[in-house]
Amino acid sequence: ALAEQAKRVAAEFEFGQEHVRKAVKEFIREMDEGLQTEGTELSQIPTYVTAVPNGTEKGLYMAVDLGGTNFRVCSIQLHGNTTFSLTQSKIAIPRELMVAKTSKELFSFLAKQIETFLKTHHEDHYFSTIKRRKTGDKVKEEEIFNLGFTFSFPVHQIGINKGLLMRWTKGFDIADAVGKDVCALLQAEIDELHLPVRVAALVNDTVGTLMARSYTSPGKTGTLLGAIFGTGTNGAYVEKLDKVTKLTKNKDAGEYDKSTGEMIVNTEWGSFDNSLRTLPNTPYDIELDEKSVNPGIQMFEKRVSGMFLGEILRLALVGLLKDPNVPLFKDENSSDNDVHSTTQIHEGTPLFKQWGIDTSFLSICAGDTSAGHRMLRQTLDKDYGISAVSAEDAEAVREIAAAVGRRAARLAAVALAAIVITSGRLDTLSGASSGGEVAEEDIIDIGVDGSLVEFYPGFEDHVRQALREVEEIGEKGEKRVRIGIAKDGSGVGAALIALVAGRVLEESG
Ligand code: BG6
Ligand code: GLC
Repeated sequence: ALAEQAKRVAAEFEFGQEHVRKAVKEFIREMDEGLQTEGTELSQIPTYVTAVPNGTEKGLYMAVDLGGTNFRVCSIQLHGNTTFSLTQSKIAIPRELMVAKTSKELFSFLAKQIETFLKTHHEDHYFSTIKRRKTGDKVKEEEIFNLGFTFSFPVHQIGINKGLLMRWTKGFDIADAVGKDVCALLQAEIDELHLPVRVAALVNDTVGTLMARSYTSPGKTGTLLGAIFGTGTNGAYVEKLDKVTKLTKNKDAGEYDKSTGEMIVNTEWGSFDNSLRTLPNTPYDIELDEKSVNPGIQMFEKRVSGMFLGEILRLALVGLLKDPNVPLFKDENSSDNDVHSTTQIHEGTPLFKQWGIDTSFLSICAGDTSAGHRMLRQTLDKDYGISAVSAEDAEAVREIAAAVGRRAARLAAVALAAIVITSGRLDTLSGASSGGEVAEEDIIDIGVDGSLVEFYPGFEDHVRQALREVEEIGEKGEKRVRIGIAKDGSGVGAALIALVAGRVLEESG
């Protein structure tokens, strides 16, 4: 009976071919709408980045990266031959700062981390400039680090280093920051500490990932898309400038270089289809959303990204446990080869707490192919206080977890498919490709980063399966899509943008 119940719940997470196709159409519609109008579901934010690097860029830059979970400070030496060296420090963002009373608390913390980094890794430079800054002496232009600020939240950009926070996502909630220029907030705290650092560019992590991927693997056609599947999910892609019509309508829009005819657009696809025209909506999705800090928004993200998948699984399992007729963890199942002992759910198990199950548990489930799912059972015991779980119980948990993960990957494919299709890149084929071989010029390159794609076993396989099911892509098109990890890419990407932006700022004084 348990096996049947598990199948029933797993089936609630099916997102079949027809659903994928319908969602792709909706995604394309929302992309188009977002390019023309402000305030749409897909924000389609113009980033003011109009060129991707080609690997020859050189110099020493700084970058800071406020993601969803970690804060990183790095300095990057670009060698100019598609390689770079990176010095970085990484710390987990303290939970209380994510929901601080004032934005000053968060930003002064960030500035202090930059100070510590400089003292540790660029000691001479730090002490020589800081002395002069404090006594009012001049610090030379070339002594000031241009810093790329990777800020992984939706920001209405009005210039390369200017942007107003639209809303928080991923559990952050600091009311007074909304509507403010986050670069100015950071610069103010940097200046208070007299650091020789100028915030030269504001960069979403997806844009950084796209830039980094272009720098390290400059293909013949250039990378099309940078995507994050981590704590949150989002993508940024190369768009034709003349399609970004809302930019010319915006009176506040700053200057940008028009010569390339392209601009990188940050889709903020976490909020794709907030009105649920095509997204699946199980009772678990509904409950998760209702109890979140931002009900009704980031509806795509809440079904796809790492912050939420563990919670969806938890709600599904709790649903089963509440049903007295379902023998989950009730120990009516015999334990296979183990000496039989009674399953126990220990007091204080995270299973009954909101966010109690981490998405890494889904990765364990997906990776545990051993007979009887030993790893899975051990993890339930060690991390979740559920001991002596039977093989049948473990199989039920695995099946539901796999269904949640598969649905996430198939949804992820919707976003990738829509962007690949609208890019028009599928419409040209060089003739150099033959048989099963795809020539370099026919590759459609996508750079990805984030804990989910990195650690969830088989994520890419599920994405590819769904891509093949989309009519416009099919097996032929899917083969042309190359998905490559741009590990920790956004730091390097931010440095690359700071490089270009720094030149412009220096020229304009
Ligand atoms: C990191 C990038 O590698 O991946 C960050 O440097 C990005 O900018 C992050 O936010 C996403 O992954 P996760 O899993 O930490 O959300
Ligand atoms: C959230 C943020 C977005 C970011 C993504 C990945 O969706 O809103 O800006 O790119 O998470 O970190």
